[in-house]
Amino acid sequence: MAALDGKVAIVSGAAQGIGEGLALGLSQAGATVLAFDVQDTITQVAEAIEQETGNRVLGMVADVSKRADVERAVATATETLGGIDILVNNAGAWKPTLVDSPWEQAVADWDLIMDTNFKGVMMLSRACVPHLQSRGGGDIVNISTYYVLPARSEGTNNPETDLYNASKWALNGFTDTWSKYLAKDNIRVNGLCMGATDSPMLRGLFPTGELPEAMAKTVMYPSDIARLMLDLIADGRTGENIGAWVGHPVELPPPSPAHRRISG
Ligand SMILES: NC(=O)c1ccc[n+]([C@@H]2O[C@H](COP(=O)([O-])OP(=O)(O)OC[C@H]3O[C@@H](n4cnc5c(N)ncnc54)[C@H](O)[C@@H]3O)[C@@H](O)[C@H]2O)c1
Repeated sequence: MAALDGKVAIVSGAAQGIGEGLALGLSQAGATVLAFDVQDTITQVAEAIEQETGNRVLGMVADVSKRADVERAVATATETLGGIDILVNNAGAWKPTLVDSPWEQAVADWDLIMDTNFKGVMMLSRACVPHLQSRGGGDIVNISTYYVLPARSEGTNNPETDLYNASKWALNGFTDTWSKYLAKDNIRVNGLCMGATDSPMLRGLFPTGELPEAMAKTVMYPSDIARLMLDLIADGRTGENIGAWVGHPVELPPPSPAHRRISG
């Protein structure tokens, strides 16, 4: 019997990159998966994972920043797949944003990044929590970034990404408070905070779409993050931001003392 047999997981932003890898990892571990994304390729991606693992993967087009879409995704998971045990808040938007960009641009960037990376997480999690409670517990995994942890390498806190950076720090607040509030319901809430991981988002940072040679040698892969997520779920801890750094083993660290859980 696989570790997650009988469990139902939702993964947001699963049409490519890390989200696709996390959906695959959950499916390989036996879970039934609802994978959604704004891109309509999600349907083929879900079908391909289902074929590979033999476990049900339902793909649907939905935008995490729109309440009606979030409610539709959660209703589909409960009505069609039978419930929710695991929520992976993966969908994320990244773009350079400058502190001195024009106001109109700044406000539009705020709406895009915060509505996806932060408001979307709040809405999707709120919609899932009653279902996790009714199952007697479960897991929420928030996909953050290594920016929120003490640096282990150069290049953290890119000065041209104030909104993305702020959105992930904001996510920390959710991880912290929800983990404490939902402990009574046996719902664990953690963050996964990775450095450079091969994905269309990462490749989009480079004009050719190819990773620079040095980065290509050290970059992590969505499958590394999926293994870490599965270990985290199996471990049962809550309220932690788990780092994954380029050049370091991708593995679950010993549990952190309470005062170091959220920012390392
Ligand atoms: N790749 C990295 O190096 C890296 C590092 C740290 C954190 N992250 C985080 O990992 C997560 C996944 O990143 P990735 O690198 O795979 O990015 P990606 O851009 O390759 O994939 C993100 C997916 O989310 C989807 N998405 C975007 N907005 C959405 C919305 N409103 N509703 C539903 N789906 C939406 C996209 O269509 C895409 O399929 C993000 O939260 C990102 O911030 C990535």
